[in-house]
Amino acid sequence: MRRVTLTQYLIEQQRHYGTVSPELRLLIEVVARACKAISHAVSKGPLTGIGDSVGLDNVQGEAQKKLDIIANEVLMEANEWGGQLAAMASEEMAEPYQIPNRYPKGEFLLLYDPLDGSSNLDVNIAVGTIFSVLRCPNNCTEFDASSFLQPGSQQVAAGFAVYGAATVLVLTVGNGVVGFTLDKELGSFVLTDERIMIPEETQEFAINASNMRNWHPPVKRYIDECMAGKTGPRGKDFNMRWVASMVADVYRILCRGGVFLYPKDAKHKEGRLRMMYEANPMAFIVEQAGGAATDGTQRILDIQPSGLHQRVGVVLGSKSEVERVTQYHAEAHEG
Ligand code: F6P
Repeated sequence: MRRVTLTQYLIEQQRHYGTVSPELRLLIEVVARACKAISHAVSKGPLTGIGDSVGLDNVQGEAQKKLDIIANEVLMEANEWGGQLAAMASEEMAEPYQIPNRYPKGEFLLLYDPLDGSSNLDVNIAVGTIFSVLRCPNNCTEFDASSFLQPGSQQVAAGFAVYGAATVLVLTVGNGVVGFTLDKELGSFVLTDERIMIPEETQEFAINASNMRNWHPPVKRYIDECMAGKTGPRGKDFNMRWVASMVADVYRILCRGGVFLYPKDAKHKEGRLRMMYEANPMAFIVEQAGGAATDGTQRILDIQPSGLHQRVGVVLGSKSEVERVTQYHAEAHEG
């Protein structure tokens, strides 16, 4: 069997479709290499104590783990010197990081959530890294933090790694979604899914049900109908799943369908998840896999961001389910 590595896949994309320039390829390869290093660190579990809290909150007000900081540094150090980037922004850093003058600068901007789901580290549940690549506007002649504030539809690539039983890397360069698995002996990401497509039909939903008392009526209506099962309006039984690691929940949806909701509610008025580091890359991937992603009312990829650390409501997954939730919001709005 022919084993296609990440590098081969990216070179072939360029040959056939002209979508992955050598600069973009290098950038994605370096991110993937950083993910291997993070995977290695995560796999040590409690042996090194790096899953412990550092006793500080990050810019998002979440308890930072040592591994959050390590993963952030691994990505920064791996990506700063290669000449493909103008700047980086991370969920763990209050301000963007401009490439220092001692290094050449490139045309891309990299955004990442270095260790998504890190509150799960101490219980050995899958965590991951999410990334998004944008082009720096106006050839970066006037770079500032606002250069990052582009709608998700402008992304040139997005992906995420899941550090689970196996380490997997999911990637889109705007031509469908592919999945790689890390062959730890070879040290390479090997193509294991040539075309990830989210099944249209689903009987699984993912939501943090402890927020139920805060949900807005359209979300409550949707979940109530799922919970009513065979005897309810949906006429079928649903299953519920919630890993509390977005990477693991979205990976499951890519593999076997379903819908993931972290909607705005009475407590999370703007939503809970970050638009630039979580919602945009995941929405790009999900759409490229035949699914849909909205904030309840509009397509996530169309939203013009106003801040780097902005939060947003998220409904993503199998198209018909996302459309149903969005329709319920529209009906509630029309009264
Ligand atoms: O944003 C980080 C994150 O851990 C996501 O990966 C996950 O979907 C969500 O938060 C879990 O939130 P909660 O702790 O409310 O279940």
